[in-house]
Amino acid sequence: MSRSIGLTPEIESYVRAANRDEHPVLKRCREETARDLGAQMNMQISPEQGAFLQLLASLTQARDALEIGVFTGYSAVATALRMKQRHGDEARLIACDISEDFMGRAAVYFEAAGVRDIIEPRVGPALASLDQLLEEGEADGFDLAFVDADKPGYVAYHDRVVALLRPGGVVAYDNVLWSGDVANPAKTDADTAGLRAIAEMAKADDRVDVAFTTIGDGLLLCAKR
Ligand SMILES: C[S@@+](CC[C@H](N)C(=O)[O-])C[C@H]1O[C@@H](n2cnc3c(N)ncnc32)[C@H](O)[C@@H]1O
Repeated sequence: MSRSIGLTPEIESYVRAANRDEHPVLKRCREETARDLGAQMNMQISPEQGAFLQLLASLTQARDALEIGVFTGYSAVATALRMKQRHGDEARLIACDISEDFMGRAAVYFEAAGVRDIIEPRVGPALASLDQLLEEGEADGFDLAFVDADKPGYVAYHDRVVALLRPGGVVAYDNVLWSGDVANPAKTDADTAGLRAIAEMAKADDRVDVAFTTIGDGLLLCAKR
């Protein structure tokens, strides 16, 4: 979500000014996405969430990372910039999205930010991409994963992502508050139900340590034990 929930415009401005300046390519990605895709820009993470993802990349010393849900590339560029800063060309971000159109738009920003060489796009249903990575022998090979795609799919992604993470690796699930709908029993649509299900699944999963945080639109963090 392009804005963090529950923040007044004044608090949002304060938070954005308190963070380091947004990379010029991220700013361009945000502005051009708003200009070209209108309301769909709400799918993009906020700048402060981008800063948090970069910090997660630092904390996990991410050299190998996975993203499910690329859209126009904001979160992938943010993560890849930090990974390349730390690991140079050794870094690798597997970027999964079902949309050829979105991946094409994102590639423009990968190129402009100088991270295209470390991003490996995989276009297609993410579940198939995750299964393929496991078949390719990549289990225990990833330091960080960011899941920000179809909400009913999160539960099926979880086992695969946990298998792909190394011990100590972290997965972050986005939008787990769904603008607060998860706390409203009257909301029973597939997205809301899927987000409640991943929260319950992670809480009960003794393979991971868990923190349900209110960052952005709710960010569920799981660290593999
Ligand atoms: C919320 S957007 C991602 C936003 C992105 N993380 C950013 O920072 O701009 C969700 C994305 O998930 C993709 N998506 C939806 N269903 C998918 C699936 N089954 N497999 C892979 N990607 C999917 C959509 O095409 C869309 O680009």
